[in-house]
Amino acid sequence: MSGRDLLSIADLGREGIVDVLKLADSFAEVSEREIPKVPALRGKTVATVFFESSTRTRLSFETAAKRLSADTMTFTAATSSLSKGESLRDTVETLDAMGVDAMIVRHACAGAPKQVARWVRAAVVNAGDGQHEHPTQALLDCFTLREALASRAGVEPADDLSGVRIAIVGDVAHSRVARSCVLAYGALGASVTLVGPPTLLPATTAGWGVEVSNDLDEVLAEVDVVYLLRLQSERLEESLIPSLGEYSERYGLTRDRARRLRPELLVMHPGPMIRGVEIDDEVADSPRCLVTRQVRNGVAVRMAVLFRLLTLGDRKASDDGQERRSA
Ligand code: NCD
Repeated sequence: MSGRDLLSIADLGREGIVDVLKLADSFAEVSEREIPKVPALRGKTVATVFFESSTRTRLSFETAAKRLSADTMTFTAATSSLSKGESLRDTVETLDAMGVDAMIVRHACAGAPKQVARWVRAAVVNAGDGQHEHPTQALLDCFTLREALASRAGVEPADDLSGVRIAIVGDVAHSRVARSCVLAYGALGASVTLVGPPTLLPATTAGWGVEVSNDLDEVLAEVDVVYLLRLQSERLEESLIPSLGEYSERYGLTRDRARRLRPELLVMHPGPMIRGVEIDDEVADSPRCLVTRQVRNGVAVRMAVLFRLLTLGDRKASDDGQERRSA
């Protein structure tokens, strides 16, 4: 968060991530109150601007904004003037002109939220851009993991994940979640192994600071957390796996594999989970699976991100906004 936008985990660095996690601790407490609402962003307007489908991310941001008493606006591409041929720039400038303070942008093209941030005065949060990044997902994952490890050890959540071993499994090549998670887990000191068939792993991981493996069973014996990814079927242009059955057999947490897992191994998934492909019901519905906690924590973490951008950040001054527009 360069003070104005959150486009990548790299905008935050370790210090920024820890700051968001600490702030989210207090917002998680707000979410548990009988009336889970604080006036922190009263008078501000938060717009979700989604050019791709979403269930949890959009609702999570809208809930977060409402719990901070901000007004919310929902833009959905399918029912907008885009279908009449309006450009992305005109669309976001129209919203900006209505006095929006933050735009939460999801788009199928990598880099679209960054481009939007150049055009508008509002703070921009990347809610998923193509195969690039999905920073708030990684932040809520760090928050959830740190909480789960602390509650198991009976201690307060630590901000350091040194010594924690995480396997990110599946369609890493097409996953924006994987990219943000590698950056965030790495910044907090965890060690990450990417696991999948060669066709679904990035062509190169030089500079990623990760291990790579094609053998899930071998890795399962060594890690503390398995982070499963959905097969990004909407982005699979060619047949990169022989069949769903074979993929599941080799890289899914199947019932068979589940029975061999160490009791302390934790399972995470950003959702939507495709049961029967990457995860069996027996795993998805077991206490080791943190998916529901990830969704719940998503609201507190997004409250922290919005609060930080709209109250603590170095807001875009209106003359700066003019400069940006002409850039
Ligand atoms: C992810 C996304 O859209 O990138 N979902 C999410 O936001 N929780 C992951 C996915 O679609 O597989």
